[in-house]
Amino acid sequence: MLKKNQNQNIVICPSVLAADFAKLAEEMETIASSDWLHFDVMDGHYVPNISFGPIVASAIKPHTDLLLDVHLMITNPDQYLEVFAKSGADNITIHQEVATHGLRTIQRIKELGCSAGIAINPGTSISTLEEYLPYVDLILIMTVNPGFGGQAYIESMYEKIKRTKDMINESGRDIFLQVDGGISSENIENVAKMGANAFVAGSAIFSKKDREAEIAIMRTAAEKGYKANL
Ligand code: DX5
Ligand code: ZN
Repeated sequence: MLKKNQNQNIVICPSVLAADFAKLAEEMETIASSDWLHFDVMDGHYVPNISFGPIVASAIKPHTDLLLDVHLMITNPDQYLEVFAKSGADNITIHQEVATHGLRTIQRIKELGCSAGIAINPGTSISTLEEYLPYVDLILIMTVNPGFGGQAYIESMYEKIKRTKDMINESGRDIFLQVDGGISSENIENVAKMGANAFVAGSAIFSKKDREAEIAIMRTAAEKGYKANL
């Protein structure tokens, strides 16, 4: 299940999508100081791109101690919950936009022993998340239109993150507020100020030679922003 690292408020989640797929095991060694490995599954249908599936998750799992945070950008997540749970997922996040019977899907994810997240795209209202609040462990606010790494952060998402944090506070539940897309050391402090506490970063981390140094810079800035929000 998802856990915060020792006495720190925030978690850093490098996105495998930006790693060198020709040497994934070695790449895992360069991000060992982070917290969750963000695994972007794309089916070429829900999003206009195809990435990787459960066999890659199984291949990576023995090469990292990071929690495996699976982000399903696929049209039919129900069909793949068991195989991702068996592949070592610690968290499985589905998209609200495709969740016909989303609450049943969230309940199934938890029956499989994983924590459960619900994600919404930049154009989807946070009001669609209200009924999930008593059940989810994580809310993922997409800060780019899903499908590709390396896109620019959408500025209007700051206010949306703040409203989502207020909604989580009102629920009284300890729900991770994760952001995903265009997150870097340039904007992470301000995003944390809005109440986010889990930060996905692909290109901002894997584009650097010294990834551990970048993770440390991002962690310090995020902690600073998060504390300002308390
Ligand atoms: C986009 C993915 C993101 C992406 C983030 O659809 O969900 O996780 O990999 O990549 P960057 O950090 O490069 O924007
Ligand atoms: Zn993602």
